[in-house]
Amino acid sequence: MNAPLRDTPALTDPARAGSVLSVSDLHKAFGVNTVLRGIGFTVQPGVATALIGANGSGKSTALKCLIRLVEPTSGHIALLGQDVLSLAPRELRRFRSQIGMVWQKHNLVPRLSALTNVIHGEQSRASGPWTWFQSLATATTRNEAMACLARVGLADKALQRVDSLSGGQQQRVAIARMLMQRPRIILADEPDASLDPQSGEEVMRILAGLARQDGLTLVFISHRMEHTLAFSDHILGLSGGRIVLDHPTAHTDADRLRRFFDPAAGAS
Ligand SMILES: Nc1ncnc2c1ncn2[C@@H]1O[C@H](COP(=O)(O)OP(=O)(O)OP(=O)(O)O)[C@@H](O)[C@H]1O
Ligand SMILES: [Mg+2]
Repeated sequence: MNAPLRDTPALTDPARAGSVLSVSDLHKAFGVNTVLRGIGFTVQPGVATALIGANGSGKSTALKCLIRLVEPTSGHIALLGQDVLSLAPRELRRFRSQIGMVWQKHNLVPRLSALTNVIHGEQSRASGPWTWFQSLATATTRNEAMACLARVGLADKALQRVDSLSGGQQQRVAIARMLMQRPRIILADEPDASLDPQSGEEVMRILAGLARQDGLTLVFISHRMEHTLAFSDHILGLSGGRIVLDHPTAHTDADRLRRFFDPAAGAS
């Protein structure tokens, strides 16, 4: 059972009602290095949000705070109706199983097939030896994993070892593994990094397309301005530990984003 929500300002503010994610007054310091200085934002269901900012501005820290892979110093986070900061360790593990995560480094098992790696995505829902060895997986699980691979265009690579696939294909396997989790929201930290421009765009198109098809909320970080503009509905800009840009993507363009990244011109 989910823990009851604490009565916090973040959760009772009518402006935040209906949001799938609501963050307020979030602080994070690593020792003397204060990275987040009271950030706040909301994300509505089904919306694709891009989190942008210069290197070291705290984007990954903010994303990790949402599911406490990094423990916030203080603040409020309501995600999928849960007061994240009040969750006990066991509740937190169960809670995280509903969150699909995609990282720049995908942590696939290189020696195993694409299919077996995708089957591993089921682990957060059900555990047992059958999730580790695809030969032991049930037909239902295998079929679902195959369907996930098909959704990222890799059904024909199912039995190929992951280390024989290209970087872009490996990232697509990681996305299929994440889909196997049947997530309720997707958090993606630079899924398009370390890939050539074409593969990076393909990965972003697949990720954003799947989120849209399934009505899933997507929060992603990308350094590629064209991806931010093409694949988000809303943009959040982080600078100096604060959210200094928070508006629909339709209200901005490449010039404004360039000004955001250019300290001399200031944030638009
Ligand atoms: N585990 C940690 N321990 C100490 N400091 C950390 C830790 N993680 C991040 N930091 C610091 O927090 C700041 C923000 O880092 P973060 O990785 O969140 O930035 P970012 O915006 O994701 O940058 P990039 O665009 O390069 O990925 C940096 O000064 C970084 O050194
Ligand atoms: Mg980062």
